[in-house]
Amino acid sequence: MEREKIRQIVAKMTLEEKAKMCSGADFWHTESFEQLGIPATMVSDGPHGLRKQDMEGDHLGVNDSIVAVCFPAGCATAASFDTDLIGRLGEALGECCQAEDVSVVLGPAINIKRSPLCGRNFEYYSEDPYLAGKMAAAYINGVQSKNIGTSPKHYMGNNQETRRLSVDARIDERTLREIYLPAFEEAVKESRPWTVMASYNKVNGEHVSESKKFLTDILRDEWGFDGYVMSDWGAVCDRVQGIRGGLDLEMPSSNGHRDALIVRAVKDGSLEEALVDRAVENILNIVFRYQENRDTTAVFDREKDHELSGRIARECIVLLKNEGVLPIDFKRAEKESIAFIGKYAKAPRFQGGGSSHITCYQKTGAMAAAEKLGYGDKITYAKGYEDDRDVVDEALLQEAVEAAKKAKIAVIFAGLPDAFESEGFDRKHMRMPDCQNRLIEEVAKVQPNVVVVLHNGSPVEMPWVNKVKGIVESYLGGENIGSAQMEILSGMFNPCAKLPETFPKKLSDNPSYLNFPGVGNEVEYKEGIFVGYRYYEKKEMDVLFPFGHGLSYTQFTYSDLRLDKDRMKDEEALTVTLKVTNSGSMAGSEVVQLYVADPESRVQRPVKELKGFAKVFLDQGESKEISFKLDKRAFAYYETAISDWFVESGEFEILAGASSSDIRLKKTVYVEGTKKLSVVYDLDSTMGDVLKDPVAAKLVEPIRKASTMAELTITEGEGMGPGANEMASAMEEFAPLRNCLSFGNGTMTPDRLQEIIDEMNRQA
Ligand code: BGC
Repeated sequence: MEREKIRQIVAKMTLEEKAKMCSGADFWHTESFEQLGIPATMVSDGPHGLRKQDMEGDHLGVNDSIVAVCFPAGCATAASFDTDLIGRLGEALGECCQAEDVSVVLGPAINIKRSPLCGRNFEYYSEDPYLAGKMAAAYINGVQSKNIGTSPKHYMGNNQETRRLSVDARIDERTLREIYLPAFEEAVKESRPWTVMASYNKVNGEHVSESKKFLTDILRDEWGFDGYVMSDWGAVCDRVQGIRGGLDLEMPSSNGHRDALIVRAVKDGSLEEALVDRAVENILNIVFRYQENRDTTAVFDREKDHELSGRIARECIVLLKNEGVLPIDFKRAEKESIAFIGKYAKAPRFQGGGSSHITCYQKTGAMAAAEKLGYGDKITYAKGYEDDRDVVDEALLQEAVEAAKKAKIAVIFAGLPDAFESEGFDRKHMRMPDCQNRLIEEVAKVQPNVVVVLHNGSPVEMPWVNKVKGIVESYLGGENIGSAQMEILSGMFNPCAKLPETFPKKLSDNPSYLNFPGVGNEVEYKEGIFVGYRYYEKKEMDVLFPFGHGLSYTQFTYSDLRLDKDRMKDEEALTVTLKVTNSGSMAGSEVVQLYVADPESRVQRPVKELKGFAKVFLDQGESKEISFKLDKRAFAYYETAISDWFVESGEFEILAGASSSDIRLKKTVYVEGTKKLSVVYDLDSTMGDVLKDPVAAKLVEPIRKASTMAELTITEGEGMGPGANEMASAMEEFAPLRNCLSFGNGTMTPDRLQEIIDEMNRQA
């Protein structure tokens, strides 16, 4: 419906009706006003399946929801580095929302993985904002192609579960812009989500759900968002301030209490009615967009989606380690020669707890999938452990060890139990249950060929990493994960996923370690922009598995890296082309990663940053050329002095690789920054800084002459020791201009000094 028509409807509403429209009718619906032709619309979780609650609503996944298909969670889908694939997931979700009359699916969840401990990392995509943004945009485009809205969440600074409703995330501006905002920015600019969900927490002292800076200035004015902003469930504190800031819809209903506050504020003049109108208009814009684009022919084909869930999952499984054990030749294997050990072989953990918890249509574990493929008699199953408590069950352990002894290969299905990670709380450590670690150690003592298949929403420590020959990361791969695992284990499908996050060796290596989850209601993001690989690389720290890592059953060769220019202005785009060849013996896909590095900079920058990726399928022996476009943002950092992105002129490295630690090709380009940083000189400006600026350098000469610093040359042996000359020149370089008064020959006066500085500023 056109905005003008919506305005006419709003004009007919009373203040009370408008205030009512600004909060939910109940747990899941927007308000309706029949006489005005405004229908109620339903929103539901999200993100990796539909959690539509027909009966009693709750936001913690406690009460029942309709039977739906659980797709791989965000942790897994991000590992695909495959925007088409995630788009297909989105389309399937959109289709089922149309069939179920749900107007908005509450996702994608795109907060940055600041710490591996965050209980909700399983829903989130990455430690890297570029990857998270691309995945988010693809998901949103997929869902919205079916005329169903999305709600990228939780905007923003919600990177932990501890005290998530009250914590104040203290994040400096550069870090906000470079790390925590870009995924939302990309989502909004590239895919125009119908709604955005404001998070529970505060950022820099202000509730996000009330923040004009985040909800209006950045979201709408800078990025062009035109849908409605809804609160996370229970995120509202000061409702009137929220209306001022740009929070359109409060969810769930406040039972009229806060609507009354809105009415009162308008009546007593503390809130402009036009701001209430704006919120209602924003909500109605989406309500009608949904209503006018209903597809009553849509069907929720659970069988088809279950199958799709498995096909997506196989592209999300990361082969972390393989010392010649995989793939397993199930076809030619003898009877009972393969041991499947661990409860998760039959009852895999494939989704997380909380608001994203799906009532699944079907669950397929690896054992069931193997039986379906006709391999049942080749496999001996041993449960190995229980996952409702962390206690070694000696009988189960012995049974597993015996099965492993008799077999030619043992595949251990392990991972984090539900109680270890969920919405609502953070992990305290990065370990797997002791009983599972012990199981892996004991099996590895009797069986040289051990493969561990993991089920977890975020990284775990692996004390046994060198004792096993294969490690397969399934993440939380959705209800059909078993089929996908069998395809990978048997080689029916060539693994191609890559880690969307670093696996550190131990928790204390993580950059947020000393400041997570904060003290009381405050958490300081002291590591700044150095999140994930940006930190480990800068610190030259060994990690267990690096960002972007993932193996294949074939090999890929990279060649012919070309840049379409070797010098450019930052306003131009750079085209990067390279060739990838499948030089191994099996068809497969490779995720090529493109990083940009600024080796010399006036500010601290990461060693390199991801600025492009492409997934390419190649038959055995096939080559393909792929290309990337890099624009200003690929080279820029956020300069707070000008509140804008800034490219420092100089050489940049363009790096193409198979992972962040496996760079295969490199070229350099000179980029000229077109923006200048304005300088203001004062008494504290240093001589070194002034001399770098040719105009100021001329003007500063009289000051230099008046200073004895410039004359200092000390020769060795005069009691100052070796390095005396370096010391002298450093003393001049870092001498503030005012020093010519204290350490000078008396020829400079304070007034004259100020005059020169003023002139320098005039000519700067
Ligand atoms: C979660 C949201 C979810 C909402 C509704 C909240 O607790 O943080 O992600 O969409 O509940 O269930």
